[in-house]
Amino acid sequence: VGVAAWSPAPIPRHLEAGEVHVWFAALDRHARSLAGLAGSLSPPEWARAERFRVEHARSEYVRARALVRAILGSYLGIPAKSVVFTEGPLGKPELAHPGGWSFNLSHSHGAALVAVTRVADVGVDVEQVRPHQYHRELAERFFAPSESAKVLALPPGASEEAFFHAWTRKEAFLKAMGLGLSFGSERVEVTLLPHEPVRVLGIDGDPAPAASWSLEALAPAPGYIGAVALQSRSYRLRCWSWPG
Ligand SMILES: CC(C)(COP(=O)(O)OP(=O)(O)OC[C@H]1O[C@@H](n2cnc3c(N)ncnc32)[C@H](O)[C@@H]1OP(=O)(O)O)[C@@H](O)C(=O)NCCC(=O)NCCS
Repeated sequence: VGVAAWSPAPIPRHLEAGEVHVWFAALDRHARSLAGLAGSLSPPEWARAERFRVEHARSEYVRARALVRAILGSYLGIPAKSVVFTEGPLGKPELAHPGGWSFNLSHSHGAALVAVTRVADVGVDVEQVRPHQYHRELAERFFAPSESAKVLALPPGASEEAFFHAWTRKEAFLKAMGLGLSFGSERVEVTLLPHEPVRVLGIDGDPAPAASWSLEALAPAPGYIGAVALQSRSYRLRCWSWPG
């Protein structure tokens, strides 16, 4: 879903059955409005914020949590401060409120994506596409051999883009499942070249699970690549940009 499709939307929004909403926010651009929402963070969130040594990492964490609270609170019809989180077995933040909600957050270099749905467990990832000195080594280390071969065969520029497509698709899938690094990103095989349809190809070489999963590539802002994943073939994706 390309940059043009992200319409600025007022909140609150209503989530129709069968819909997946993905919100984009430029965390730096909305620094002031998000600072105004920072009072909604819980004591454990503040305690975690205080543990960041690098100031911009701390402020990005605080802004992203404020954003998630504001968005989820608007769907739930409650103040951002009243949103209560729990954690999945491997650390995936989940909503403690009833209603079958699933959400996921990703932030990278000033950009944040928040996915919200009731269709199935959802995962989202965003990365800034940056010239990466080590992306070939990272592909060899974290990708399946067939995937890293594709990245290595591309010229500079195209290879970074393919690398980040694969990276975000794998992360979105692993985050939907609530899995951490321990699962092994090379076990999830995804497409990554521009002409390939965006999808999961297989897990541990087995193509069967791929039939029930959906992946979508996202381009929320120039220079950023994202992906959203969920285990459903039937839903409607809507992309919004945070009005600030
Ligand atoms: C924890 C992990 C999911 C975070 O990913 P990241 O790219 O560093 O950061 P993102 O901004 O995309 O996501 C972070 C958010 O995901 C959420 N998250 C944390 N643990 C999660 C989990 N187990 N599952 C899903 N979401 C999780 C949190 O909301 C977190 O934001 P916060 O810490 O600010 O509250 C990631 O470190 C990880 O374990 N990934 C596994 C995938 C992998 O092996 N990748 C290698 C390359 S493909």
